[in-house]
Amino acid sequence: MTIMQKAAEHNSTRAITGILCYGSGQFLQALEGDRHAVNALYRQIIKDPRHSECQVLSVEEIPARDFAEWSMKIVDWNDSVTADRESMLLKHAGSRHFDPSHMSASQAGAFLSDLAAMERLLTE
Ligand SMILES: Cc1cc2nc3c(=O)[nH]c(=O)nc-3n(C[C@H](O)[C@H](O)[C@H](O)COP(=O)(O)O)c2cc1C
Repeated sequence: MTIMQKAAEHNSTRAITGILCYGSGQFLQALEGDRHAVNALYRQIIKDPRHSECQVLSVEEIPARDFAEWSMKIVDWNDSVTADRESMLLKHAGSRHFDPSHMSASQAGAFLSDLAAMERLLTE
């Protein structure tokens, strides 16, 4: 089963929402939901052999979800690197290359929210 199928199925039964962007061999993911559910999922994700060196960038209580409409929005960064996407990344990360290991927590958060906004425009 792919990450996407698993995430859609598992996350929706646990009211978890979020976004996962991948590219250049790295994943950047935001998980939203009940604290216990998010922690349980994170413990599962870090055991997954399809990746290594997981890092938590930030954990916070939020007044409202940013990605409420998606059980897990999957974005392949290299699928379509448009000029808009590239300049959005440049604005947030100071680089044209998707490299979340060099983003601060606030850069990563702002990047994912703008990415979500762009994805919403595409699917309108
Ligand atoms: C980067 C990454 C993100 C993942 N995100 C999720 C997720 O949001 N929800 C989920 O259920 N599984 C996610 N997975 C898959 C889990 O790590 C794991 O394979 C799955 O939850 C195992 O479920 P099972 O033991 O019931 O088969 C992710 C895996 C990777 C590598």
